[in-house]
Amino acid sequence: MTGATAGLGAHALQHIAAQPGTRVIIGARGSGRTVPPGVEVIPLDLASLASVSDFADAVTRRLGGARIDVLVLNAGMQTSNAEARSAEGYELTFAVNHLAHYLLARLLVPRMADQGRLVITTSETHDPAITPIAPKTLDPRALAFPGKGGFGTGIRAYSASKLCNLLTAQSFAALGSVTTRQITVIAFSPGLTGGTSLGRDSSPARRAFVTLLMRTVFRLIALFRPEYVMGTPERAGEALAEVSLGAVTPPPGRIYISLVKGEPKFPDPSELARSRDAQDRLWRASAAMVGID
Ligand SMILES: NC(=O)c1ccc[n+]([C@@H]2O[C@H](COP(=O)([O-])OP(=O)(O)OC[C@H]3O[C@@H](n4cnc5c(N)ncnc54)[C@H](OP(=O)(O)O)[C@@H]3O)[C@@H](O)[C@H]2O)c1
Repeated sequence: MTGATAGLGAHALQHIAAQPGTRVIIGARGSGRTVPPGVEVIPLDLASLASVSDFADAVTRRLGGARIDVLVLNAGMQTSNAEARSAEGYELTFAVNHLAHYLLARLLVPRMADQGRLVITTSETHDPAITPIAPKTLDPRALAFPGKGGFGTGIRAYSASKLCNLLTAQSFAALGSVTTRQITVIAFSPGLTGGTSLGRDSSPARRAFVTLLMRTVFRLIALFRPEYVMGTPERAGEALAEVSLGAVTPPPGRIYISLVKGEPKFPDPSELARSRDAQDRLWRASAAMVGID
């Protein structure tokens, strides 16, 4: 699992690690992380593709011949502008949220058990019908190498990276090797969740502005758009665990689960997220960027 050290993922980890007979390995940056007893921690910095490869190698070695039943790719970040770059020079939000997870899934899905589950955390912010600034077209190169940063570019990069998570989940779900092995692929949107550290890199002034926005404008919008009702990290984490452990599954033929007012719903993703052409273009561009076929 990625993204298990903070926010809603830390709550999900508590539930997952509490399952009897479950071995849990998480990827985390830094050292000295506090995790539930028995959880194994392997270094992983998603801002570096070399770190992702090292992590996948270390997991494979540690597993020996054992298979992964559930692969949860939950880590995510958001910046106030799109100016930071990953170790390989890609825009950081795109690199961490999408590219690193794309590579990790390409490396670890072959190590998964038949009838396993691959869960990728996305967001309803990918959808222009819910978030007007969400992308209406896809240009992977422009996401990897955006022009000048500035106001609004951080949230746009975030929303686009979450679209990439959904496109990638659908591409994996359509892979022959995944369908033959009956691996269930799910794109999980936890919904607007307060009290996590997602915006931690923003300046105090920006964080105060976002808090004000959430307490005023978002509350008004929430009166007629339930997707704007703010949930808790506890419930979002519990729902991620339910999805990961198989207690909640989308209806046949669907892969998108969106938590709305604490309840799992199965809406259509955005039109662009459903585009086979966009899925294929992102898959090919991402493969070239991470240096695999
Ligand atoms: N909060 C919301 O409203 C919301 C809404 C929709 C979707 N989501 C999605 O939900 C997921 C979890 O978000 P959250 O709100 O719980 O955020 P959070 O509290 O900031 O947690 C993010 C997690 O990702 C990890 N992470 C970030 N950058 C990393 C890196 N370079 N290498 C390794 N791990 C890294 C963090 O590790 P550290 O402990 O090292 O920081 C942390 O475990 C994300 O995918 C986010 O996009 C959140």
